[in-house]
Amino acid sequence: MKIAFHDHGPLPSGAVVVGVLAQKQLLPSAQKLDRTTRGVITRAISASRFSGAKGQCLEILAPAHISASRLILYGLGKAANLDLLGFEALGGDLVRRLASSGETEVTFLCDAVPGSKVPLADMAAHLALGARLGGYRFDKYHTKVKPEAKPSLRSVAVQVAETAAARQAFRPLEQLAEGVFFTRDLVTEPANVIYPESLAKECRKLAQLGVKVEVLGEAQMRKLGMNALLGVGQGSARESQLVVMHWQGGKKNAAPVAFVGKGVCFDTGGISLKPSQGMEEMKWDMGGAGTVIGLLRALAKRKAKVNAIGVVGLVENMPSGTAQRPGDVVSSLSGQTIEVLNTDAEGRLVLADALWYTQDRFKPQFMVDLATLTGAIIISLGREYAGLFSNDDKLAERLAAAGTAEGELVWRLPMSDSYDKLMDSQIADIQNISNDRGAGSITAAQFLKRFVNDCPWAHLDIAGTAWSKKDKATVPKGATGFGVRLLNRLVADYYEGKNGG
Ligand code: BES
Ligand code: ZN
Ligand code: ZN
Repeated sequence: MKIAFHDHGPLPSGAVVVGVLAQKQLLPSAQKLDRTTRGVITRAISASRFSGAKGQCLEILAPAHISASRLILYGLGKAANLDLLGFEALGGDLVRRLASSGETEVTFLCDAVPGSKVPLADMAAHLALGARLGGYRFDKYHTKVKPEAKPSLRSVAVQVAETAAARQAFRPLEQLAEGVFFTRDLVTEPANVIYPESLAKECRKLAQLGVKVEVLGEAQMRKLGMNALLGVGQGSARESQLVVMHWQGGKKNAAPVAFVGKGVCFDTGGISLKPSQGMEEMKWDMGGAGTVIGLLRALAKRKAKVNAIGVVGLVENMPSGTAQRPGDVVSSLSGQTIEVLNTDAEGRLVLADALWYTQDRFKPQFMVDLATLTGAIIISLGREYAGLFSNDDKLAERLAAAGTAEGELVWRLPMSDSYDKLMDSQIADIQNISNDRGAGSITAAQFLKRFVNDCPWAHLDIAGTAWSKKDKATVPKGATGFGVRLLNRLVADYYEGKNGG
């Protein structure tokens, strides 16, 4: 879908969208349109219950005497409450409504809003970002589409006075959206297409953007001593991989920021086999890795002024004659031994080695890991917030602020020595599940903490947010790409340029 910014001009053809504030207050473009149509807008409003409340929508089809094929009034609510996420929702909502309506183009008439703190250019740019994100589709495997479901919308135009400033504000947002789409695509792909080696190959594509990509296979990982990660993949016919991505956009010797992702390309549970009902969902168990890959793509694409490392541990957790057994003891890269009581608690085993490797090799300013780690986080927080765990208050606060700004919410949960004790094993240094049924997401985080070795660290449990079962304006149902926006914002607000460090 093409997105373009233009100065205000003559009324175009196709769908035309104008904003209306609370209490039926028309913005200048709507007033002008009302005059050219001899009052069609005011008539439509008085014939309906449309008041301009936030998110309300009123569609007027085929109004007489004008070029536009439909006029759409969109409720903005009160001027003082307008924010960028609201404009994204507007853009996303409309693109989704019009996607297969038969309409091929939509034009938003974007006016400055008196009484709002949101700058006009940002308003327009975020409206366009919402349109871009909401217009995401993954339809490569549909070979037969009914004519009425065929996408029709091809172009989005935003008419705004500050055209150049809007275009400039949109550029990094569009690059960000590309990162989000890369993540959504990778997570949506089934596990017969995306498996450790093919996912590593996708990472290699980032080299075109200047990202240095290293791929470690099983032999190299064995040499290093990554037996926690290797144990998870040992039942699979697919070879496990560890991918290290380097984006060098900052000063040569500046310590990097690091992102680590759980990349379980399919999680059957292994010998601790999962029930078959819903098991297909476990193709998303590489969602953390998917986010790290999309994030690096976004950072590279917008040439972020930061040194960033992405590390993803890629495995497939399968039951077989060579699979790891419950009760096996493995020796991790850190030297700590792990008793594997449940082979379905595999993400933490992969991360144990990936986290240790990352802090040991790169001495980063901080590490953030992302993982679809526990079903328990869905019990705690549902699908609205991701779980946040951290050993560093400053990092945790920054993540929460970045998440709120981007509409990717995180909620911090506690960690403590008393939870840590629950992971002590009778015959090894640590066991991979707690004997207690409670606090499953916290004990998982405590497990990870034993492999971060004092590095400032945060863990995002995205089991509830990596995938969505309902459509939202900027996040169609399916893979969400959760975390790409949040972490891009974290980097931009606190670790780039003059804010570096
Ligand atoms: N990949 C799952 C977690 C998960 C569950 C993600 C549901 C998304 C939706 C993880 O590997 C797992 O199986 N965790 C177990 C841990 C348990 C054995 C301690 C779980 O959550 O049941
Ligand atoms: Zn599992
Ligand atoms: Zn898993």
